[in-house]
Amino acid sequence: MSRPEHIPVLLDESLEMLAVDRPGIYIDCTLGLGGHSLEILRRNPKAEIIGLDLDEQAIRIAQERLEPFGPRVTLYLSDYRNLPEIEVDFKRVRGVLADMGMSSFQLDTPERGFSHAVDGPLDMRMDLRGKTSAARILEKASEIKLAQIFRDYGELKQARPLARAIASARRLKPLESTTELRALVERVCHWIPQRGKIHPASKVFQALRIEVNNELAGLDVFLESTLRLLPPGGHLAAISFHSLEDRIVKRTFLKLADEEIAPPLIDILTRKPIVPSEAEVARNPRSRSAKLRAAERR
Ligand SMILES: C[S@@+](CC[C@H](N)C(=O)[O-])C[C@H]1O[C@@H](n2cnc3c(N)ncnc32)[C@H](O)[C@@H]1O
Repeated sequence: MSRPEHIPVLLDESLEMLAVDRPGIYIDCTLGLGGHSLEILRRNPKAEIIGLDLDEQAIRIAQERLEPFGPRVTLYLSDYRNLPEIEVDFKRVRGVLADMGMSSFQLDTPERGFSHAVDGPLDMRMDLRGKTSAARILEKASEIKLAQIFRDYGELKQARPLARAIASARRLKPLESTTELRALVERVCHWIPQRGKIHPASKVFQALRIEVNNELAGLDVFLESTLRLLPPGGHLAAISFHSLEDRIVKRTFLKLADEEIAPPLIDILTRKPIVPSEAEVARNPRSRSAKLRAAERR
């Protein structure tokens, strides 16, 4: 089988923010295909990687790619929100990376159902052990709940009419495929393709994906507890791909750096988020919405 293509986003920028030239442990919370980890291992022979991902297919591919680095790499099939429960010698941790959202490998695998551009089942689970697929939500959630998902997680103007159309369509037959959902969205949103305009199904798919994987819940707790576990000088870098996630990172950092609340826990290393250069966006259009923020434990 040929290896899936993957271009790590904001690679130089995130490794610079993590200051990866220091010997010690770097935790890659969202290993994906191991793009960032691979580069840390290449650049610093005294770096060790602890990698986490809840997608077993991704872990398997990353394991193969990182194999040449032998005992310098330890991987866990785990949600990063469970990081405090994993046995890690935090005193030796120099950096933690969370490159959130889905990987291009997930997006490009039709059977995973993440992309509206190809036909596939409405799955969208990152953790294949999970029970809730997008199809299940579209079948079982109330019309009100669906509208709320599309509004809150997709920031979609037509959230109510779309929820209504889904509730009426499923009375005849449950929605099963990505193309069926895409066609319904195009109908409700009166979609006419235009250069530079984002397809409304992108927002709908984003919203469903966030709900299926419960992506925002506990992100603030994860950031705070990880920063508390880091030794002084330890860095945390977070790459987000939509404003909902970025807002949580920004607010959590601001809270922990605020001198008026308590002695600050961190220094924020990015006054403004770092975004990809034009050259990176041209090379990898999927990097378009990425935002990188970083902090250092005091
Ligand atoms: C953007 S990709 C990471 C790509 C990686 N940095 C690379 O360069 O190959 C995000 C990865 O995070 C994983 N992921 C998303 N949410 C997660 C969570 N809560 N815990 C662990 N992994 C998660 C996804 O399965 C996906 O493989």
